[in-house]
Parts: sequence; C-alpha cells; structure tokens
Amino acid sequence: MIKRKNILKIAIDSPAAAGAGTLAKAISKHYNLIYIDTGKIYRFIAYNKLKKPGKFSINFIKKKIKNLKIKELNNKKLLSDEVGTEASKIAKNNNIRKLIHSFQTNFAYNPPVNYKGSCLDGRDITYKIVPDADFKFFITANLKTRAKRRYKELKGLKKSITYKEVLKSVKNRDKSDYNRKISPLKKTKDSMLINTTKLSKRSCFLKIKKIIDRKLNI
Ligand code: C5P
Repeated sequence: MIKRKNILKIAIDSPAAAGAGTLAKAISKHYNLIYIDTGKIYRFIAYNKLKKPGKFSINFIKKKIKNLKIKELNNKKLLSDEVGTEASKIAKNNNIRKLIHSFQTNFAYNPPVNYKGSCLDGRDITYKIVPDADFKFFITANLKTRAKRRYKELKGLKKSITYKEVLKSVKNRDKSDYNRKISPLKKTKDSMLINTTKLSKRSCFLKIKKIIDRKLNI
C-alpha cells in the first residue's frame, strides 16, 4: 500500500447517532483532511443488497467496491433506518469487511494531494483500519439522546418512523455492533472519550480542536 508521509490521521469510533459524523466533518474541514464516513460504505453495500437481493454475492460486492466513488456515499437513500439495520447485519461478515478494508486504508494513508491528511469514522477505525492514527477518539452519547437525534434526522428526511421504532433500532444496532465477534465496536485505551450527551456541536468541536492543537503546537 502506498503511504503518504507527514500526513495527519484522525481515527474515530462511535455507536450509532452519537454525532461523530457531524464532528468529523467539522474537524476535517478545519484541518483540510479527507473525510470518510465508513458506515456509509456498509450502508452502500446494504442498499445494493436490498435493491437487488438476487444478485448479492461476494463478486457483486467486489465489483461495487472497485467502482465506488466517494460522492456515491452522499446518496440520501443510504440514510434510511432499514439500510442502517441491514448494514449492521452485513458488517458481521468478515469476507465483506476484508473487501472494504483496502478502500478505507487507501484514503486513510494515501489521501488525495490537496488534503493534509485523513479523518475516518466507524466502528473499528481506531484499532483495525488506522491503528497508528495521530489522534483517536471514541465519541458517544446516551442511548435516548442518540435515538432522539436519529429520529430528528429521519423526520427531516420525511421518513415515516416513530421515535419508539428509532429507539429500538438504535438499541439493537448497539447490541449487534458491541457484541459481534469480528471487529466489534469498542473504546481502545489510547482513544480519548468524548461524551456529546450534554454538549453542543460547537463545544464538542472546540474540545477536540483543543486536544489536536495542543499536540500539534498550533
Ligand atoms: O455509522 P453507521 O450507523 O452509518 O453504520 C452502519 C453500520 O455499519 C453500523 O451499525 C455497523 O454495524 C457498520 N459499520 C461497521 N464498521 C465501520 C462502520 C460501520 O461495522 N467501520
């Protein structure tokens, strides 16, 4: 794998709807890093599975990943609860994870030259995808807060879903992501814990910025 030297690498892990994506985007913009929401890759595969269940196979995924362009991950259809739940199911499959691995590490270690580095968020980023990241964060919030945020997001997208359904879905996803055998979600010892339950987006951003600037001597 090609590895660019002197780049800044930020790795983030978090449970569903903890606000990691919003924070990671703001951090990436501030430090000019390429941002990859790795959950969207699992969602992209899940979406394709739900769309064409008959065609779903390892070869089908291989082709999809090979041709995957980052902007395809912005597809709003990937945001539905149904796709999220399916993503969490397929994420248990080690063969699928292996296919996604190099797509992620390519961006993490060899970001396009116009970027100063990379910022990835997901479930196994701090210990499997970018274990030597310069900064590692575990971003979380309590279950109800996360469910409320996800509910608001889905309502904004005009999805017909109740808060109760979202709460159940986030709970189930936590159970699956924390307890699976392969690449479970966990906070590594060397990750900084950021609990966003009572913090505004701005104060979370400033908290992380302070940690980064201090180490970078900015
Ligand atoms: O982050 P998001 O909620 O969009 O992720 C959807 C699902 O993809 C997660 O519930 C998780 O099971 C899976 N995932 C993963 N590893 C990652 C990112 C996401 O297993 N690095």
